[in-house]
Amino acid sequence: MCGIIGYAGSSPALPYLLKGLEQLEYRGYDSAGIAVMEKGEPRVVKSVGSTARLREKVSGHSLSGGLGIGHTRWATHGVPSEANAHPQSSGPLYIVHNGIIENERILRSELEAGGEVFLSETDTETIVHLVNRAMRQGIAFPEAVRSILPLLEGSYSFLMAHADPSEPLVAVHRGAPLLLGTCSHGVFVASDMTAFPGDVHSTLPLEVDDMVMIRSDGRFEILSLTQGKERVATLVSRSHHGVHGKGEYPHYMFKEICEQPEMLDRLLAKRIRREDGRLSVRFSSEAERALSSARRIRIVGCGTSFHAGILGKYRIEALSGVPVEVDVASEFRYREPILDPDADLLVVLTQSGETADTLAALRMAREAGVPTLALVNVEGSTADREADATILLEAGPEFGVAATKTFLSQIALLTLVALFLAPDDRLREKEGRSREEILSDFLKLPMLLDKTLSLSTGVTAIARSFIEVSTVLFMGRGGDFPLALEGALKLKEISYIHAEGYAGGELKHGPLALVEKGVPVVSLLSPDERLVPKMVSNMKETLSRGAFLVSIGSERFQEEFSPVSSMSLSLPDCLPMFFPLVSAVPLQLLAYHTACFKGFDVDRPRNLAKSVTVE
Ligand code: G6P
Repeated sequence: MCGIIGYAGSSPALPYLLKGLEQLEYRGYDSAGIAVMEKGEPRVVKSVGSTARLREKVSGHSLSGGLGIGHTRWATHGVPSEANAHPQSSGPLYIVHNGIIENERILRSELEAGGEVFLSETDTETIVHLVNRAMRQGIAFPEAVRSILPLLEGSYSFLMAHADPSEPLVAVHRGAPLLLGTCSHGVFVASDMTAFPGDVHSTLPLEVDDMVMIRSDGRFEILSLTQGKERVATLVSRSHHGVHGKGEYPHYMFKEICEQPEMLDRLLAKRIRREDGRLSVRFSSEAERALSSARRIRIVGCGTSFHAGILGKYRIEALSGVPVEVDVASEFRYREPILDPDADLLVVLTQSGETADTLAALRMAREAGVPTLALVNVEGSTADREADATILLEAGPEFGVAATKTFLSQIALLTLVALFLAPDDRLREKEGRSREEILSDFLKLPMLLDKTLSLSTGVTAIARSFIEVSTVLFMGRGGDFPLALEGALKLKEISYIHAEGYAGGELKHGPLALVEKGVPVVSLLSPDERLVPKMVSNMKETLSRGAFLVSIGSERFQEEFSPVSSMSLSLPDCLPMFFPLVSAVPLQLLAYHTACFKGFDVDRPRNLAKSVTVE
């Protein structure tokens, strides 16, 4: 949940730490801090708020030390404050930490009873006191670090530096991601690759239970804690694909929304191939094997990924006839689901590949002998490494906390999975078209997304009308239902307006009670002849209670929905199965523009983080 970075080398660490923390801010941004091991005396600077504040505060210090650590925090133990910001310290030791020490209370009581004085409310401080105590008992650094690890419960990672710069920087991976990056002047270690500067030419994802000793001359040693001996690992050359920056865009989120047509184009070109004169959907052979052998698919995910999963269920069941269940990962892992290794395939949806609940579901399935497939954006992430097969989202780095392009990639891939599994005759019967025709239409979608992006003026007008409202309802039927959930989630995440998504048919079972004069209701209308009349009835029901009715529908049915709407957006026509890919764009833009009008930090919404590595 937090972002950590460390550097040991021959250059001053500070500029790299600050730059790296800015890149890691999407993981947490309520406070930040750095510690640099200056000759003579280490220097610690911390601030509440973003890393920009930290940068301001550091500007008065001239620090040249070549070994340092930094942290950007998403508070779990204790409020955001300078005292609780990392690095935490004890004696000559400084620590930055990501994850949770679950037995922190017991450890803290024992340490306090032994005379340690705590200066923060963090669980992090227990680790550094334990190591310092071990050193006072005569165990040398870094062995002292290793000696206390069996006492810590939970999933975490940390970096620990010693005031003496000739001591190594120690990195411990016990479940929260860490990567090494090497360059001509030293070694970096961070929560993810985005924190590394361009100088880093080779990287290495650490494995759970790795402990690494990094020296300023560029040498490092990886100790496998499970094997109790050195682990030989090979660095891989860093791909500079998708190098980031906002460019001319005001926010990452806007940039990421605008990148979607191009992203989809690339994704489809890779997955829809012409073989023997026919178009077909192709994945890696492991992924194809896993999908083809499944008699039941179990999808799990959190947040936006869960919404993509619901759409996946609808598409896969309808087109292929394979039963699909979909769960929120945090429920799945505790609700004691019945897993059948002979029938099930567990599909985890996770843009980061690091979401704690989703990983727990993945591990549960593996323990039960159920094959697993990850749809994940970050190559080398834990989900990618632990699943039996992976389909990469290939959305490029996503920095906006609110997922946009990764959602689009997820729903595009799940639609492709449905088409991959769909028997030819069933496709023809359901859709009245051949696979060839459907896939050719799919290949035209990026163009339709481009067209949709150009409807921005209509979307801003709707967003302007949302500035003062306190509740917005979203509704849709069929594939529009998960989009209604996602539209509502986007709006609440970044504009802090209470928003809920409903299935159109559920309106009369509760949500209608919330509708009174002026309450905005956003209706989604795929070009599905069975559902449009039903949605129009639902719309009229809200209208007669005074709703401010906004409709987002296919231009094919514009005459049905436009006249009854206060405001409407007509989107390019396409097959109903593709409509959510098109309608996702105005829903994202609606949330984006509303938040901008309200003056909020779009890329870093309050209290939220991009990667939720704790339960
Ligand atoms: C957080 C992010 C969301 C994301 C969810 C699941 O809540 O803010 O954007 O949808 O985590 O993350 P995952 O990486 O598993 O897709």
